Amino acid sequence: MASETGTEVTDETSTEASEQSLLGTTEVADDRGAGPVASTETVIEARHLDVFYDDVQALQDVNIEIPEKQVTAMIGPSGCGKSTFLRSINRMNDLVDAARIEGELLFRGKNVYDEDVDPVALRRKIGMVFQHPNPFPKSIFDNVAYGLRVQDMDVDEQQVVEESLKKAALWDEVKDQLDKSALDLSGGQQQRLCIARAIAVDPEVILMDEPASALDPIATSKIEDLIDDLAEDYTVVIVTHNMQQAARISDKTAVFLTGGELVEFDDTEKIFENPEHQRVEDYITGKFG
Ligand SMILES: Nc1ncnc2c1ncn2[C@@H]1O[C@H](COP(=O)(O)OP(=O)(O)OP(=O)(O)O)[C@@H](O)[C@H]1O
Ligand SMILES: [Mg+2]
Repeated sequence: MASETGTEVTDETSTEASEQSLLGTTEVADDRGAGPVASTETVIEARHLDVFYDDVQALQDVNIEIPEKQVTAMIGPSGCGKSTFLRSINRMNDLVDAARIEGELLFRGKNVYDEDVDPVALRRKIGMVFQHPNPFPKSIFDNVAYGLRVQDMDVDEQQVVEESLKKAALWDEVKDQLDKSALDLSGGQQQRLCIARAIAVDPEVILMDEPASALDPIATSKIEDLIDDLAEDYTVVIVTHNMQQAARISDKTAVFLTGGELVEFDDTEKIFENPEHQRVEDYITGKFG
C-alpha cells in the first residue's frame, strides 16, 4: 500500500536528515538510569497517550513501558487501536491528516513529538514492517540498500546488504540472485526482504503490524523463528490477531480492548495463564472480541 510505507520510503528529502538531532537527545539522562545497568531497560514509554482521529478517540490514556531486546505483543479486537499505537511510536500518524496526539511517547527518555525530533531520523531508529509485504519494484539488492542510499549512509553497501539478508534469514535463498526483481519472490520471502530492508539502516526498534497474517503456515513459522532471533539485537513490538502466535513468540503482552484502552500489560505467561482482569480473560478465552 502506497500510504503504508516503511522507514525507508516516507521521506524523499531524508538525505538532509540529521540523525544528530535525535541521537543527541539519547544522551539526555533518564533519572531512573543512575544505578547499575538494568537488564530490562525501557526503550519506549507512553505516558497518558491519547490519539484522536478528528473527534474519534482511538487511544485513551495509554501508559506502558516497553523493554529493550524483548518481543512485546499487542493484542485486542479489531478497531481497539493497536495499529494506531504502533504508528504513534515512530510518528507514522504524522502522515494521517486527521490524527492528533496528546500525552507523551518517549524513545529512550525523549518525547518523539518534541519539536527538535526529526521524524525521518526517528524512523531510521524505529523501523516498521507491515501486514502486506511492500518491496519496491527493484532488485533484491536495491531493496535492502534503499535506506542506506536515501539516508546517505557511509557504509559498505555489499556488506550491509549481506548482513541484513542473513539476519532476516533470507540470504541462503537469494544470494545467487540479488539482481532479480524483489517482486518475483514469494510472499514469505518478500516479508523477510522487508525485514532485511528495515534492519539495514541499523534500527533499535522494529515495529511489526500483523507481519505474518497474509502468509501461509510455513512462511508464518519462518517469520516467527526470525522474530525470536531478532530480539537478540532489537526491541520488537508486534501486533497480532493470532493469540497462539502472541503466546509463542512474545515476552510481554499488552491487551487493548474496545475504546482504545490498554487494559493489561504483563509477562506473556501471566496474561495467558492468569490475567488480572476479567475482561482480559474473557477476550483471551474467546468469550468476546
Ligand atoms: N486514518 C484513520 N482515519 C480515521 N479513523 C481511523 C484511521 N485509522 C484508524 N482509525 C480509527 O481508529 C480506531 C482504531 O483503529 P486501528 O486501526 O488502530 O485499530 P486496530 O486495533 O489496529 O484494528 P485491526 O485489528 O482491525 O487492525 C478505529 O475506530 C478506526 O476506525
Ligand atoms: Mg490494525
